[in-house]
Amino acid sequence: MNRPKKNIVILISGTGSNMQAIAQAAQQQRWADKLNAHVACVISSKPGAQGLAAAKALGIATQVVDNKAYESRSAFDAALQTAIDGYQPALVALAGFMRILTPAFVVHFAGRLVNIHPSLLPAFTGLNTHQRAIDAGCRVAGATVHQVSTELDHGHILAQAVVPVLPNDSASSLAERVLSQEHLLYPQAVYQLLQTMDADLLLNT
Ligand code: GRF
Repeated sequence: MNRPKKNIVILISGTGSNMQAIAQAAQQQRWADKLNAHVACVISSKPGAQGLAAAKALGIATQVVDNKAYESRSAFDAALQTAIDGYQPALVALAGFMRILTPAFVVHFAGRLVNIHPSLLPAFTGLNTHQRAIDAGCRVAGATVHQVSTELDHGHILAQAVVPVLPNDSASSLAERVLSQEHLLYPQAVYQLLQTMDADLLLNT
């Protein structure tokens, strides 16, 4: 099968450990050979994001679209959209990208825009998910990879990982347990989605 080239653009704002997990999986599992999929660029909304250096160390192109340089959310999103469109991506993966996106941006990338959220959605949308799970007395917590829709943290669920909440957990110990699962879950979910794109193409030809 002649698989079309599938560029992946990853958006970060901070540490970028999920970005690294995806990029390393792509390299180690040879996604280029298997799926014709390539992490084409890592774009950060913050100039000093730690993940930028990590991406460069992995040999990945990086760009900064600094949200502080734009007067409005829509101006920032328009600039971000232009930067991403330059790579003609099959998939745009949000990985610790700490900006709420405008509906116009989400609609433009509909079906190609995914996120990882550190809770078992639909529970605990938004911030402080780990403390809220502990405060609610949850016995399990986890992470969700989902399509991005215009409603925050509400898109179609693609994959989830579950971890226990232990009696003495703090928000940070729970976050660490969840994050280690995120690093397995997100690359797997991205791989499956890219595979599905090839399968859909096969069905429609
Ligand atoms: C992760 O917990 C992710 O679920 C959330 O933000 C955190 C980002 O961590 N959206 P990193 O930047 O990938 O290390």
